[in-house]
Amino acid sequence: MTEEKQFPKNFFWGCATSAHQIEGGLTNDWTEWEKSAHRTEHLKKQNLNPQDFISHKAANSFEDNNADVACLKGLSANAYRFSVDWSRIEPREGEFDEQALAYYLNLIKKLRAHNIEPFVTLWHWPLPLWLRDKGGWASPQIVKYFERFVQTAVKYLNTDVNFWLTLNEPMVYSSMSYLNGEWPPQKKNPWLYYCVINNLIKAHRIAYAVIKKIDSNNQVGIAKHNIYFEAYQGKLFNRLLKAGADWWWNERFLNKIKNYQDFIGLNYYFHNKVNYGFGKKHEHDKYSDIGWGLHPEGIYHLLKDLQKYGKPVYITENGLADRGDQHRSWYIHEVLSNVHRAIAEGVPVKGYFHWSLIDNFEWAHGFHPRFGLYEVDYQTFERKARSSAEYYKDICEHNLIV
Ligand code: BGC
Repeated sequence: MTEEKQFPKNFFWGCATSAHQIEGGLTNDWTEWEKSAHRTEHLKKQNLNPQDFISHKAANSFEDNNADVACLKGLSANAYRFSVDWSRIEPREGEFDEQALAYYLNLIKKLRAHNIEPFVTLWHWPLPLWLRDKGGWASPQIVKYFERFVQTAVKYLNTDVNFWLTLNEPMVYSSMSYLNGEWPPQKKNPWLYYCVINNLIKAHRIAYAVIKKIDSNNQVGIAKHNIYFEAYQGKLFNRLLKAGADWWWNERFLNKIKNYQDFIGLNYYFHNKVNYGFGKKHEHDKYSDIGWGLHPEGIYHLLKDLQKYGKPVYITENGLADRGDQHRSWYIHEVLSNVHRAIAEGVPVKGYFHWSLIDNFEWAHGFHPRFGLYEVDYQTFERKARSSAEYYKDICEHNLIV
């Protein structure tokens, strides 16, 4: 007989999304980049249809977020992590759009009415155009703009929100946008990369103070993308590389903000076996649709590493692209077994958010990858539960895995 693994009382079971990936109808640095001639040419050269890489209406959530709330209800989830979009709230410098704020407040109220705890991400990557034109995250000025944006948004939305994430995956953003040049503004400049990270650190610290000042009960953190680095065959050189990677990618940002966060948000997707270099091909038993090796055990090691911070941990993202729903239930089960093991060993994990609630616009990969527990029909915007949604619902309802 398989053993039941019970999760702690009041555990948050939720899903995560982000504004740009689901809302539709946005105008920001990403939407402009998606439509740019340069991007279109690049995609055509690979025989890809540029239309599949333009977010357009995305999953149409801005027009109908009731559909998303219904999905959360369908899962019996008690928490939802979503983001607000800066360009919607502050479309022109210093001009805040009351209707946009009201839209988010209304969503929060709907969640509350269904006993779903909102976890609000304040910045999940895109920037307003006016801010892009001022140099975006490479400009030190952004820190004061972020402060003003956070002050306005949090003041407006505060009453019904306890959990705030200032930034989503600052290390991923800075490396994709400023080091390897894949995402807008497509820079390949190690110095800018370093400056951007520092600006993100400063922005978080200031935002932390602002949010606590508005209400000292607010719980504030970031969503941090950590990779499980493993030293191949335990060789000395690989161990040294692993230590360097752990320090730079997993720990440095968290160390810099450790006195400015109430919890740690962990996003887990990757395992990287260090073998005289990073990112070398090594075998996994299972892969997602976009070739990411599935390694559920990695989350256990990452959680153990986070224990030293002595802060509650929320798994703010974890999931896979799996259109045919071949591996999703298995993956959720295995990841949660590993989370359970970490909890049993004293790591204070307080919640799990599956990425994602619904299929959505997967950044530079466009619409092809399907991360949703619910499938989205991009013609009608109907949501349909995949069988893994049924599986996850069982977990949310019973607070255990079998
Ligand atoms: C991001 C999401 C993204 C997911 C899957 C995370 O890095 O926060 O926006 O969709 O990974 O790639």
